[in-house]
Amino acid sequence: MSSSRFDPSVDPAARRAAGGLKWNHYDPDVLPAWVAETDFAPLPEIVDAIQGLTDTGLFGYTGREDRLVEACVGWMKRRHDWTVDPTLVLVLTDVMQGVEAAVTAFSEPGDGVIVTTPVYFPFFKVSPSARRRQVEWPLSRGDGGWEFHVDELESILDSDPGIRVILLSHPHNPTGRIMDTETMDAVVAVAAAHEVMIVSDEIHSDLVYPGIDHRSLLTAAGARDRVVVSTSAAKTFAISGLRASVLVCGSRDVKHRLTAAHPRMLLGHVNCVGSRATSAAWESGDEWTDGLLAHLGAMRSRLIDRIGSEAPLVRFHPPDATYLAWLDLGACDLGDAPADRLVEVARVAVGEGSMFGNGGDKHIRLNFATSAEMLDEILDRLIPHLQG
Ligand SMILES: Cc1ncc(COP(=O)(O)O)c(C=O)c1O
Repeated sequence: MSSSRFDPSVDPAARRAAGGLKWNHYDPDVLPAWVAETDFAPLPEIVDAIQGLTDTGLFGYTGREDRLVEACVGWMKRRHDWTVDPTLVLVLTDVMQGVEAAVTAFSEPGDGVIVTTPVYFPFFKVSPSARRRQVEWPLSRGDGGWEFHVDELESILDSDPGIRVILLSHPHNPTGRIMDTETMDAVVAVAAAHEVMIVSDEIHSDLVYPGIDHRSLLTAAGARDRVVVSTSAAKTFAISGLRASVLVCGSRDVKHRLTAAHPRMLLGHVNCVGSRATSAAWESGDEWTDGLLAHLGAMRSRLIDRIGSEAPLVRFHPPDATYLAWLDLGACDLGDAPADRLVEVARVAVGEGSMFGNGGDKHIRLNFATSAEMLDEILDRLIPHLQG
């Protein structure tokens, strides 16, 4: 499928009229490049699956549908060369529910939970609401971009024996960074040596750029008893409103720890619309996703070119994955809350870096999953303000 199906003009008035947070949260003249959602027309098979349900009128309870689990196993094998055991897949309503379920299953109140700052800000709610201690393993910025330093993780774990969980965003939101195989193996080895579990949120893992290899954390050496992966089709196919996700375990023991900690009703039920739509996406979405990736790759290149030539003060390490650009505006004259300022002066809404915790000050997160025309308009508005 060509990438052109992702490039028709985006009509802001039509998007707003259709409803939804992305296009309606700000004033109508503000262009939205904030929340992680794309502007593309859906995969036709998802629409068909939902229409099939409306035809039958089935809107009642559903459970863990075999079709969804099989679709998940097939997708992970085809797209990620990752062999998932269907008996070790739990079906939940969303990725953050899986994250919270896993963090609380593998720790007790008062235990430490590591987050890799700056990071997807809802992670910051997990420990306080579950009475766990949040501990930071900050990413470092080298010349080539953001890095995970495993020696630093090791000294954090050495100095705090109460840490029980490492919570990863992999690919990492907001930097778009991916760990190479060697780093993943080292993280799992350090976690094993300290008897710490790893919860890996891999919701962006389909969205990886050419030449970069993303492997699930569950494929790392020794990960079977150490790692659980929370993921879904929501980001790739823009179906986050349909609420369906999977929590993939590597062993029966890990699955047992999860289910024992959370009797089934407490984990909630996936809804039938989300289950059918996700099944359709994972069964039929390969060619569509190839087209999406080609388009996102072109938008990423456009962003790199325009920022590089027209806003050279912006520090930008292009993402390995995700349709999110993490831009350091420290050298621009935009103050301490650049996103707030850019809504005012440029009429573009982007994510405020400080919300992503330490390392986020004077940064913004820009979503480039839109048409070339819309991205150009967003950049035309932003670039005059990204100067000294
Ligand atoms: C890293 C990450 N995890 C989780 C989510 C949200 O997933 P869900 O709505 O399924 O909880 C997002 C959404 O942007 C995300 O970027």
